[in-house]
Amino acid sequence: MTSLLILNGPNLNLLGTRQPEVYGATTLAEIEIQCQDKANALGIDLQFEQSNHEGVLVEAIHGARGKFDGIILNAGAYTHTSVALMDAISSADVPVLELHLSNIHARESFRHKSYIAPVAIGQICGLGPAGYLLAIEGMVTYLGEKA
Ligand code: DQA
Repeated sequence: MTSLLILNGPNLNLLGTRQPEVYGATTLAEIEIQCQDKANALGIDLQFEQSNHEGVLVEAIHGARGKFDGIILNAGAYTHTSVALMDAISSADVPVLELHLSNIHARESFRHKSYIAPVAIGQICGLGPAGYLLAIEGMVTYLGEKA
């Protein structure tokens, strides 16, 4: 059975109350329920994680090798700073799809740079929580085409 990891980075645990004008009113727990419903509908296995700590995210990527077929990563602010996450993805041998709720390219210039993008199979941003569901579909399609 196809198995996906959705990994969420810093401050995403605050969704629902954090800058709702940017990120919307949906909580991370509600997004997880929607993702699990989508996974059930597609007949895949899904693990959903969040951490505020860069090293925990690095280790989650290391641990995905041989365990998950793909990772959907919303690295939050680490997207724009973390060579460590970029290197972990390069070493993991698991395809990573970059995801953001907001359109990072339409925001402050420091958000235009992504260390994840060069090592990701693609990027979804600006679609809010719906992006998570589209990312699951996109990763399943990508894995199906690769098989
Ligand atoms: C984010 C965008 C990042 O720039 C920001 O630091 C986040 C959330 C998003 O989902 O839109 O924490 O990754």
